[in-house]
Amino acid sequence: MPRWSLLIPAAGSGSRMGGKKKPLLRIDGKPLLVHALAAFRGIADIVIAVPPGEGLRWKRQLGIDATFVDGGARRQDSVERALVAAEEPTHVLVHDAARPFPGKELVKRVMEATLKVGAAIPGLAVTDTLKRVDALGLVTGTVPRGGLWQVQTPQGARADWLREAFARAAREEWDVTDEAMLLEKCGRPVAVVDGDPRNVKVTTAADWKLLKGRGRR
Ligand code: C5P
Repeated sequence: MPRWSLLIPAAGSGSRMGGKKKPLLRIDGKPLLVHALAAFRGIADIVIAVPPGEGLRWKRQLGIDATFVDGGARRQDSVERALVAAEEPTHVLVHDAARPFPGKELVKRVMEATLKVGAAIPGLAVTDTLKRVDALGLVTGTVPRGGLWQVQTPQGARADWLREAFARAAREEWDVTDEAMLLEKCGRPVAVVDGDPRNVKVTTAADWKLLKGRGRR
């Protein structure tokens, strides 16, 4: 039987939101992170990486049963620390704290594909035209969008693959933006399942405004 842990990197500085901690912002009276957790019912072991020294404050504000660990300098460091604190899982899901509405169906698709392939991520095929733009704001070219996907979280992986990937990343000084990239660099297969356009990430103050103003599930 697989044993799942949910790892949540939430230790970002919130610099693009004027220093506000996005996961603690509230919609309908509940912090964004608590909204997100509703999609993961059934996973008991939850580890949240928070800004160093803020574990107690976050625990109080969130009011949830989870393990809080100090995050690291980069997102990948925060995820690695959360993995170390997890209760010996066979498989993990890593979910951005700033994505409040992943949706149960999407979580199920990622878990099923992870069990089958070893690692899986949700993605949406790029439908907009992509331009390369220089520092003056002038277009320098168009990037063909065929085969390009925008990926979301939760990202699923076998825990042993992820541990091995973090060890290699430390030895070879890899800098990555998501866990799938670590696995790719190790030559592991990563499946892509259908993402959901409602699974948005709150990055800027404008994203937050948009999210507050529109319908939610
Ligand atoms: O900056 P970005 O939006 O890509 O961050 C994605 C997630 O990684 C956020 O939930 C953020 O809190 C988290 N993060 C972290 N530790 C860092 C930097 C970011 O846990 N050092």
